[in-house]
Amino acid sequence: MKKIMVTGALGQIGSELITKLRSEYGTDNVLATDIRRPNGAIDGPFEILDVTDAQKMNDLAKEFGADTLMHMAALLSAKAEESPLFAWNLNMGGLMNSLEVSRELGLQFFTPSSIGAFGPSTPKLNTPQDTLQRPTTMYGVNKVSGELLCDYYFERFGLDTRGVRFPGLISNVAQPGGGTTDYAVDIYYKAIEEGKYTSYIAEGTYMDMMYMPDALQAIVNLMEADPAKLIHRNAFNVTAMSFEPSQIAASIKKHIPQFEIAYDVDPVRQAIADSWPDSIDPSAAIAEWGFKAQYDLNKMTADMLLKLKQKLAI
Ligand code: SER
Repeated sequence: MKKIMVTGALGQIGSELITKLRSEYGTDNVLATDIRRPNGAIDGPFEILDVTDAQKMNDLAKEFGADTLMHMAALLSAKAEESPLFAWNLNMGGLMNSLEVSRELGLQFFTPSSIGAFGPSTPKLNTPQDTLQRPTTMYGVNKVSGELLCDYYFERFGLDTRGVRFPGLISNVAQPGGGTTDYAVDIYYKAIEEGKYTSYIAEGTYMDMMYMPDALQAIVNLMEADPAKLIHRNAFNVTAMSFEPSQIAASIKKHIPQFEIAYDVDPVRQAIADSWPDSIDPSAAIAEWGFKAQYDLNKMTADMLLKLKQKLAI
């Protein structure tokens, strides 16, 4: 049975990952940690952890008897552009600490990379698993460095590091906060609350996306995969769909016919989006550990609107 410690457990991925892991492995076998306290009661073990505090991370993992560390705490792309030095210190400091704790305690390790690890010189369509990576954002620099560090810890120390390059993740529990792909989450909230949405990303800007249940299943499947079959280990391209703002708007209109989208482009986030691929190729993940996504755009839209209506009590 796994004993999993998760950092960034109150973030967009972490808050749903905890629920998923607890249902798979048992509530008491998953330790949630975050820099802040949860707003409500949290069902199961929780500890405060600032990931730049290596000693506390080590102590918590040891006390819990963890055999796995999932490091989710990070600053997203737009936030990282606002404070590049802070992003470097948090994203790289947190990753180094979690890799070192994993090495010292012999833990299996997962951390997500991102489509942000690609840059303007990367092939834009069907972006290959192994390709040119010269990102032009601090977040991208952090993510490429992280991919390399995870490979290094595997090659040099034999640490069981694994990871994926997530696309924009769409979810209805915790909001993302500070990413470039957040528009594809915000649009659903605004569709329900106001019947209209003003997009900071321009019409025609394609990015890869995935619905959270598929992202969580991908993490579990990769961590359970036979290591002998893993050629890449870290930073597998995964994606479920690629769309641009007017396509998600059209999908929402099928349920809310009066829904309208307008555009007021934010130059910073638009430049980040323009530097990322339009669509990535997940064939290595499919071949090496059977990656599969269940949700396409319309199936996701139906579920998002249903769940958000319940959540927002509309
Ligand atoms: N969703 C992230 C962002 O927009 C990309 O990994 O920053």
